[in-house]
Amino acid sequence: MKYCYAGKEHAREKEFQKIWSNDIDDVFSDVARYYDRANIFASLGLLSSLQSRFISTMDIQPGQKVLDVCAGTNVIGINLMHREPSLDIHAVDRSVAMQEVGRERASQHGFEIKSFISDVHQLPFPDNHFDVVTLQWATRHLRVIEVFSEINRVLKPGGYFHHCDMLRPASRLVEKMYYVYLKVLMGVIPRLFRSGPASMKCRNYFIHAIRMFYSTEELSALLSELGFSQISGRSVLGGTVGFHKARKPLPSSET
Ligand SMILES: C[S@@+](CC[C@H](N)C(=O)[O-])C[C@H]1O[C@@H](n2cnc3c(N)ncnc32)[C@H](O)[C@@H]1O
Repeated sequence: MKYCYAGKEHAREKEFQKIWSNDIDDVFSDVARYYDRANIFASLGLLSSLQSRFISTMDIQPGQKVLDVCAGTNVIGINLMHREPSLDIHAVDRSVAMQEVGRERASQHGFEIKSFISDVHQLPFPDNHFDVVTLQWATRHLRVIEVFSEINRVLKPGGYFHHCDMLRPASRLVEKMYYVYLKVLMGVIPRLFRSGPASMKCRNYFIHAIRMFYSTEELSALLSELGFSQISGRSVLGGTVGFHKARKPLPSSET
């Protein structure tokens, strides 16, 4: 099937393939030790309220099986377990360093989150396996059609996908101001947190990845093309962040 955004995906892959294959793991190995503090700083202290808003959109039931894709330092898993400790949470990420920090953080809270080290373009789980899948702050670094198709595959029919990322604002004016802000941040953060060479090398990439990314509306359209239903997309902070919720349809006999 030819997707409407196949061309855009091709352009993103052409532009970023080398960074995604060679540099991203080194960046997150370097960033792992200060990732959570840097995010609070970069969001001007708004991160925790953004995260709470995102997590409040999630419908979860006791005992459900949840997969957090690109789980990083397990921010989502830990927040969800505070809400419902009986959840069976699985975290998948390619970075050993980020998951190591995540494992420590989860155990400090007294939680166990099952960790899987893997590239998320092929999820190491069977079909129809999870009630809920989450993905936060990472899709800019991924081939979206492949990963969202994998998420659809591992979700149980009727299961929900919750997505949050920095998006490309639909307004040109907001977009311009946003890039100026990000450029300033990319100058300050590496100095403040003493970033290593991999992160220094990728400073422009982090802005360019958003420039070539999706707006809230485009991401909703893509989810729909990939077979998700009941899609809601909410723009936050002038469209610089988007929350999406989408459902894997039930077989027609059960609707
Ligand atoms: C910005 S962090 C987000 C972490 C976490 N979701 C959060 O909300 O804080 C992006 C994460 O995506 C992971 N990642 C990037 N590309 C990946 C890939 N192809 N496969 C698996 N993980 C990947 C990185 O290792 C990193 O932990």
